[in-house]
Amino acid sequence: MSNNINNTGITIACSSCAQKFSDLTPLATCSKCGGLLDITPAMPALCSEELQNLFDSRVSIAAMRGSAAGRSGVWRFRELVLPISDADIVSHPEGNTPLLERPAISKFAGVKNLLMKHEGFNPTGSFKDRGMTVAVTQAKRCGATAIACASTGNTSSSLAAYGAQAGIPALVMVPAGRISMGKLAQTVAYGARTLLVRGDFDDCLRLVRESSEKLGVYLANSLNPFRIEGQKTIMFELLQQLAWQSPDWVALPAGNLGNTSAFGKALREAQALGLITRIPRLLSVQASGAAPFAHDFADNFAKRTSVRAETIATAIRIGDPASWDRAVSAIRFTNGVVTSVSDEQIMQAKQVIDASGVGCEPASAASVAGVRELVGRGIIAPHERVVAMLTGHILKDPEKLLNTNDAHGHAAANAPIEIDATLSAVERVLQTATKA
Ligand code: F0G
Repeated sequence: MSNNINNTGITIACSSCAQKFSDLTPLATCSKCGGLLDITPAMPALCSEELQNLFDSRVSIAAMRGSAAGRSGVWRFRELVLPISDADIVSHPEGNTPLLERPAISKFAGVKNLLMKHEGFNPTGSFKDRGMTVAVTQAKRCGATAIACASTGNTSSSLAAYGAQAGIPALVMVPAGRISMGKLAQTVAYGARTLLVRGDFDDCLRLVRESSEKLGVYLANSLNPFRIEGQKTIMFELLQQLAWQSPDWVALPAGNLGNTSAFGKALREAQALGLITRIPRLLSVQASGAAPFAHDFADNFAKRTSVRAETIATAIRIGDPASWDRAVSAIRFTNGVVTSVSDEQIMQAKQVIDASGVGCEPASAASVAGVRELVGRGIIAPHERVVAMLTGHILKDPEKLLNTNDAHGHAAANAPIEIDATLSAVERVLQTATKA
């Protein structure tokens, strides 16, 4: 296991002690020191223009008629992810998510040029599918007999779906009573063995890591470096959509910090390959009740803190983020900023995003709320080009749609009204609506 013998050209090494691993290692963390593993892809022997052309050529009618992997917005970039052939890939397909523009959301955020990259358009409704297609593909390559994760609900839904496709049993651990009904239902429906752990996400992650080490199940959390490799493609695809012209800022919600890490890594590699010449600044946004990383940023990352997390945005209710080191490096490399926003700010942003017809789950709205916060503080200028990530679909958290209709908890003007099945009842409602 100590020699780097593989046929993909990637190098896997511990980020702490530099121990090397085969590209078929079933381990997600270093067996010697417990450090996180980093993957370095073999840099393709193509110039930046040839690479751009190669990636563009895969968005075509011919590609649309091809294999799932050939249609995937993850595997389109396989040279920078995991260069393997279609037959070895477990793909839905995933990715190919839209960049959306809505004047009402731009106005709310306070920037003229705001785009939203909606990762809720992925097959299981969140960006997690980007990393999961790679992690489950890798689990299959190394002969895993079971795959496990801890989750606030999106990772578990994604693992359950991809595990089902690969025919590998999935075991998930979620905090009992603290994940949304939509995500729990999805996870169970796709067939995962689901454990409701009496504790929070951080307890679940500790438990799944122990299970992976002692019971030999393949770990699919974003500690797993293959997850990060897949999530890099959110950034590659975004840059491709913008004709490789970097925006000024990319804002994203931050919990366990896998995505912040992946974005930093993608940008580093895109620059090294000459795909981009300018690095956008990352804005990682936490919920103020779950904001250890924002706290550490304010302290110039002098030390790592953890908190007992509490926020309405259950997806990012995380108090001890696992990818802390990688995320610090991403923020430093991009001259990034980490901030936090209150639950009220999150729900206010969500209301605007929903009412524009776009819609997202609460955690996702943190990105837009964070942009508004930084514009208010004069850190983002109104003329700058900003992309905000919407990480999950509106239906992921339906309870919040019907329970908290505005930022102050007041029922929305269009709260559902029960009526008799008569035309006069409809007429009465229409008359009140016109008067209002
Ligand atoms: N947005 C959504 C919708 C999420 O589900 C998550 C994380 C994040 C943002 C934060 O991303 O962890 O990479 O910083 N959800 C994980 C899960 C924890 O289990 O589904 P991160």
